[in-house]
Amino acid sequence: MNADVEGLRDVLDHARTEISKVIIGQDDVINASLIAIFTGQHALVEGVPGVGKTLLVRTLAKVLGCDFSRIQFTPDLMPADITGTNIFDLQQNTFTLVKGPVFTSFLLGDEINRAPAKTQSALLQAMQERRVTIDTKTHELSPNFTVFATQNPIEYEGTYPLPEAQKDRFMLKISMSAPSESDELRLAGLLLGEETPERVLDSGTVQPVVSDGDLSGVRKGLQGIALREEITAYIVALVRKTRVHDSVLVGAGPRGTQALLLASRAYAAINGQDYVTPDDVKAMALPTLGHRMVLRPEYEIEGVTIAEVVERLLQDVAVPR
Ligand SMILES: Nc1ncnc2c1ncn2[C@@H]1O[C@H](COP(=O)(O)OP(=O)(O)OP(=O)(O)O)[C@@H](O)[C@H]1O
Ligand SMILES: [Mg+2]
Repeated sequence: MNADVEGLRDVLDHARTEISKVIIGQDDVINASLIAIFTGQHALVEGVPGVGKTLLVRTLAKVLGCDFSRIQFTPDLMPADITGTNIFDLQQNTFTLVKGPVFTSFLLGDEINRAPAKTQSALLQAMQERRVTIDTKTHELSPNFTVFATQNPIEYEGTYPLPEAQKDRFMLKISMSAPSESDELRLAGLLLGEETPERVLDSGTVQPVVSDGDLSGVRKGLQGIALREEITAYIVALVRKTRVHDSVLVGAGPRGTQALLLASRAYAAINGQDYVTPDDVKAMALPTLGHRMVLRPEYEIEGVTIAEVVERLLQDVAVPR
């Protein structure tokens, strides 16, 4: 196996060990988070209150060892609260830029669906271009700038669903559900003692796996993971199928193809392989494509879910041998 691939695998294993000092269980969620981070993409973390969304993202920031900011989205949050603003300095008689929280490497957008679309879209340019415009002047952000946004799926009242264009910018949607019974028992034990997950995180026990969030070295390992032409064709066929499926109003765009390609390759790396298999693609189909699809209302009313539609897609498209 190529040395870059081995290096990548070591860092991934190390990252999982560090994260598991704080987060109990949730293996799939942790893997999906690492996939987004190691491919340099943004992720949307969805789950009911208290499943550990915020704790997860704070732990990831520690593991990356990079600077970290957090924006708590609220209905009255303004775009300038995200990007920053020019303030007139009376003494100097000039405007000086007070940088907003986007000027960081790793950004937690907590409860993103609590702010109106205008504010959410201030994040758009930042996420897509890694730069922001403030009063006509454009500022570069960190080349490692990564957003993890959390949202609560059931609180409709007083929330603003993310616009489709905004959702498309997240490589994957990570659904966090309640811990398993055995994990919840372990957690219950911890919560009574001194070593609560929060305390462990804040005590400095979690060690960074790279310096200053710089993953450029380990990312080379991803290039060493083989992806056959048949697998690429399978991915393209799956994404195209989302656009013509009976129950789908809007299918996944080309960003969906890119996301599924990158995620499948990183998933193979996480599983210790140096080539991508159709099973890797299948595992990543729902997290990368689900949030880019809109169901036809008549299907939605009938209670058809995106997960079921993706399952049908996977049955309909021929799997390469
Ligand atoms: N798998 C887990 N591992 C460790 N701690 C957990 C886990 N699940 C829940 N917790 C505990 O649950 C508490 C709530 O976590 P957190 O605040 O991250 O939830 P959240 O999903 O962000 O909730 P909200 O949607 O209300 O913001 C944390 O204090 C943490 O101790
Ligand atoms: Mg939270």
